[in-house]
Amino acid sequence: KKIVLAYSGGLDTSIMLKWLQTEYGAEVVTFTADLGQGGEVEEARHKAELLGIKPENIFIEDLREEFVRDFVFPMFRANALYEGQYLLGTSIARPLISKWQVDIAEKVGADAVCHGATGKGNDQVRFELGYYALKPDIKVIAPWRDWEFASRTDLLAFAEANQIPIAKDKRGEAPFSIDANLLHSSSEGRVLEDPDVDAPDYVFQRTVSPEDAPDTPTVIKIGFEAGDPVSIDGETMSPATLLAKLNELGGSNGIGRLDLVENRQVGMKSRGIYETPGGTVLLAARRGIESITLDAGAMHLKDELMPRYAKLVYDGFWFAPEREMLQAAIDASQSAVTGEVTIKLYKGNATVIGRKSPYSLYDEDLVTFEEGESDYDQKDAEGFIKLRALRLRTLAQQRAKLKG
Ligand code: ARG
Ligand code: SIN
Repeated sequence: KKIVLAYSGGLDTSIMLKWLQTEYGAEVVTFTADLGQGGEVEEARHKAELLGIKPENIFIEDLREEFVRDFVFPMFRANALYEGQYLLGTSIARPLISKWQVDIAEKVGADAVCHGATGKGNDQVRFELGYYALKPDIKVIAPWRDWEFASRTDLLAFAEANQIPIAKDKRGEAPFSIDANLLHSSSEGRVLEDPDVDAPDYVFQRTVSPEDAPDTPTVIKIGFEAGDPVSIDGETMSPATLLAKLNELGGSNGIGRLDLVENRQVGMKSRGIYETPGGTVLLAARRGIESITLDAGAMHLKDELMPRYAKLVYDGFWFAPEREMLQAAIDASQSAVTGEVTIKLYKGNATVIGRKSPYSLYDEDLVTFEEGESDYDQKDAEGFIKLRALRLRTLAQQRAKLKG
């Protein structure tokens, strides 16, 4: 019996590793992905070896480019925000991890996969919808829902009894929970649980506070091709390199902090602190380039579809046909979304200050308040307004009658 465990190398998944060996008598295969969370993923190899995993059962993959190219950028084409604010940094990473776990399970002949999400959150749903969509007969193990540990003391006792190294800062109370990748870091729990209490400074991982950001603005140019960013200040970059660069530029200018109470799909509200510096800059820049290259009808339809798309990603339906259908519609709108946006980064704000495109729909002659060179006739507007007003005038007469 073989189980592929999504293994971060941290305390919780190390305990899971041992628990799977003892509880199931299983051969554990570990999978650790580098999604740009920071820290050295090779440390997970060392830890897995210490816990008795055979070298051929340890999988470590650098997925940064795949993550940004095939997951983050397609999602950004939708300008997706959940509940108006959350850039979905955790949600979008889960389907990629699921996909790799399933691929590895097929490769090593494992019939089960295991993840470290709790039974109270969104991530369990996202991981498992991914597994089932890609391998319908897979067996799923979610230790947090199953094991008998009732408290943190129990967990630490199990770790101690099984010679699992416990970092000093993990011995006391559990710290807040962090999930990080190239798109964002998210912090939840513990000191953040009271939604009326301001987040302490040490929670923030990758942004300075706007108050501490430089007093002089940083101005950059982001180049786009068919909806995706391809360059910064004229320098072409791979997707992951570009996002990492935007994180640096945004983070040092205090951009991308969000303190949010959101609705989890399991029915409860939760409070999270998000830092999405590069993503926040990118969303503003994408809106900037779309503003001159997208037709109004296309743009407005995209904006109607967006909340639906965002909810599908949040709810873990990345591999569902309705997400793919929306993606196809969104992608079909992007062929002319090419050009360059100038954006000013300053004390927490990313402000578009310029945009240009070889396919721009913006027509200065048409819009100018001066006499322009176009066949727009101001007199046409009178009839246009009259017809638009017709039903409002009729209705006003009806309302007058009703009032008596
Ligand atoms: N609430 C966010 C989401 O559902 C983040 C969840 C994971 N974050 C964490 N700190 N454990 O996408
Ligand atoms: C977890 O419960 O494992 C993290 C939070 C979430 O999934 O919503």
